[in-house]
Amino acid sequence: MAEPEHISIIDSPQHVDEEVRIGAWLTDKRSSGKISFLQLRDGTAFFQGVVVKNAVSESVWNIAKDLHQEASFWVTGVIHEDKRSHFGYEIEVSNIEVVGESEGYPITPKEHGIEFLLDHRHLWLRSRRPFAIMHIRNEMIRATYEFFNQEGFIKMDPPEITDAAPEGTTELFHIDYFDNDAYLSQSGQLYMEAGAMAYDKVFSFGPTFRAEKSKTRRHLTEFWMIEPEMAFMHQEESLEIQERYIAFLVQGVLDHCQYDLKLLDRDPKILERYTKTPYPRITYDKAIEMLQGADFNTKWGDDFGSPEETYLSDQFEQPVFVLNYPKSIKPFYMKSHPTRDDVYLCADLLAPEGYGEIVGGSERETDYAKLEQSIIDAGLDVNEYQWYLDLRKYGSVPHSGFGLGLERAITWICHLDHLREAIPFPRMINRLKP
Ligand code: 4AD
Ligand code: MG
Repeated sequence: MAEPEHISIIDSPQHVDEEVRIGAWLTDKRSSGKISFLQLRDGTAFFQGVVVKNAVSESVWNIAKDLHQEASFWVTGVIHEDKRSHFGYEIEVSNIEVVGESEGYPITPKEHGIEFLLDHRHLWLRSRRPFAIMHIRNEMIRATYEFFNQEGFIKMDPPEITDAAPEGTTELFHIDYFDNDAYLSQSGQLYMEAGAMAYDKVFSFGPTFRAEKSKTRRHLTEFWMIEPEMAFMHQEESLEIQERYIAFLVQGVLDHCQYDLKLLDRDPKILERYTKTPYPRITYDKAIEMLQGADFNTKWGDDFGSPEETYLSDQFEQPVFVLNYPKSIKPFYMKSHPTRDDVYLCADLLAPEGYGEIVGGSERETDYAKLEQSIIDAGLDVNEYQWYLDLRKYGSVPHSGFGLGLERAITWICHLDHLREAIPFPRMINRLKP
């Protein structure tokens, strides 16, 4: 007789009533003396293996009885529907061949503290919750490429080692670059502007580094950012791309990650609200009014911290754009508002359910002299920005762009309470291992 086909758990629906072989690990087990329930995972999904004592050889029964958590093995059996489980299928086991033993796995089915789990992140990744989050992360990455490709963008990769500080000089990771000073990139934007002048619509997607000393639930020192930049485009059209993009990400998760949403207990009905565009827009001035009306001590000119953003985003059923921030709290490259001297043509997108800023973007200053002055006013060395000024010297055009923090977006879509769960191996002020 031929060997049963080797399948992945995720493909079980196509193999009902067939005998198959699966390479799996044990996550948990329960036994009643006559029947053993093995909780299995193979990296594609989780489901149950049922071992009936009377239906298998004594040696298979004993192997099943002795399996420890996270032991790996080949399991052979017939796939059945199982309407009571999240996944909907199970395997009736006929044979087990152990591949790797596992003794004393540290993450047991009981509750563990978050620091313990993060110390064991290399193993914790195997559990249901990280599994679901990483699948949703993967879908958002896939959807990002699909969206920007279908909108006519090309991907361009800015350098990760730079000599400039687009977003302010306080949060840079310094590196020693052959006896010169260099920094890990805190944003690829300036390079993406060069890209837009060369290729019209470009986007980057890569790691970004910020020496954030704050220990908030919204800050990592290494995070992934998507930075689109568009030539011949004003801020208003950029906002339309942003809302279409965010709605597309949410729709992608709804279309491809129902199982993962179930594992996370995330109600898809709530996410459906976010697939409808346009998103509401308020000005920074209006935001200040709302905050003051709610007894915050925020004054015009203040930047928003987490409590302010949480309050504002809680007031809307959908993501909300906050437009036209004061110049004093935003970076030098933004374009001045046409009729107001004190604000920029910029917007942050705040995610609902209290999640706060997930996107920051603006139209860019196109005037050589104004931009040069802003660089000087920001206390930066004009010589280091000469190449950037060149972009305003040779065929300068209106252009706009934005940056989406991937982990911020995942945290919101998965309804997590901290960014550290949205990335496989989080880097924070007090965490560099594993
Ligand atoms: O608002 P930011 O600083 O904007 C820029 O870097 C622009 N150059 C983007 C552009 O216009 N091309 O950062 C953009 C986004 C934020 O909205 C947030 O989602 C995320 O990056 N972000 C962080 N995510 C995790 N940890 C941190 N420390 C983050 N800092 C920013
Ligand atoms: Mg920002």
